Amino acid sequence: MTAQLTDKYGRNIEYLRLSVTDRCDLRCNYCMPEGFKDFGEPEDWLTFDEIERIIRVFGELGTRRIRITGGEPLVRKNLPELAARLSLLPGIEDLSLSSNATRMQKQAEPLKKAGISRINISLDTLRADRFKQITGGGKLEKVINGLLAAKEAGFHPVKINMVVMRGVNDDEVEDMVQFCIDHDFTLRFIETMPMGNTGREASLQYIPLSEIHDRLAKKYNLVKANMNGGGPARYVRVEGTELRIGYITPMSQHFCDTCNRVRLSVDGTLYLCLGQDDSYPLRELMRAGITDDELKQHIQNAIDIKPEKHEFSDNPQKLVRFMSMTGG
Ligand code: GTP
Ligand code: 5AD
Ligand code: SF4
Repeated sequence: MTAQLTDKYGRNIEYLRLSVTDRCDLRCNYCMPEGFKDFGEPEDWLTFDEIERIIRVFGELGTRRIRITGGEPLVRKNLPELAARLSLLPGIEDLSLSSNATRMQKQAEPLKKAGISRINISLDTLRADRFKQITGGGKLEKVINGLLAAKEAGFHPVKINMVVMRGVNDDEVEDMVQFCIDHDFTLRFIETMPMGNTGREASLQYIPLSEIHDRLAKKYNLVKANMNGGGPARYVRVEGTELRIGYITPMSQHFCDTCNRVRLSVDGTLYLCLGQDDSYPLRELMRAGITDDELKQHIQNAIDIKPEKHEFSDNPQKLVRFMSMTGG
């Protein structure tokens, strides 16, 4: 029998979000501050060997799902090589990637060959001028080309993540639905979370997704649906089409009681909750030469301090970490 990681609330931790870089080639204004440069140093990054070792050990502890995140993960050099190594590890059944797709056009095929099975892509608008504004200068065309390349390379489903913000992009919800029907993408809406100063400012534009659902329900017949994945989205299908719409509602209806995941940052720190600062450093322990058994014990110690839930609503000032540090 495979070992299992269980936290003190009885939750089975079987999903690890692995950040391979804290850098990003966009500056989405709800995520990273303008002009931000305080990135980790390369000597502090886990090497591919170190990442492979940790993921192997997590696999032995019952982790079945790995999602590669950033910053923007494709900014890390030779990512397909790392993905190929991870996809061969025993126990890892689901190796996926979350990206902004600016570099996807060239990388989609190598990533598919490397054994990545699913790709999620952030896209908040279909208007080039707005995209530029939200992302601090990004080019929409690159992302659209990246999305199409992912589909062309055979990724299915390709999920689009749209952070819905009042007065910023909420007028595009229907356009996005049509875009996803036309291209056979899955669409997920996300509520803004007050992570760091950037997220707190964006939270002024917060919209509960029930509002979006009610709006769409006037136009489409929405029926409950299932979708593969390990994340917190709840899905409906637009009747008469294959389109699935997922709602990710950390604010209006949080999903902490079924939380199944922890996050590993590029410097080898395990973050136990997206909405809390509790963490456990693994890199120096590994570099000091601990055995796999000792590493397993440290991972269990870390899981033992996993918080029960975020406090985004009760204590929105609490979290100073930006989303880009742990990749959502
Ligand atoms: P699937 O396996 O395809 O369902 O992926 P996923 O939804 O787990 O991954 P993705 O990277 O696409 O996550 C989308 C967004 O959901 C993240 O950027 C976060 O905004 C949010 N999210 C994911 N996991 C958590 C979580 O544990 N807590 C909170 N509060 N939000 C989360
Ligand atoms: N609130 C909600 N989602 C966020 N993301 C980044 N910052 C926030 C925030 N403050 C999302 C991005 C992307 C994923 C990595 O996290 O849009 O989909
Ligand atoms: Fe899990 Fe924390 Fe996310 Fe809640 S906020 S689902 S406890 S990671």
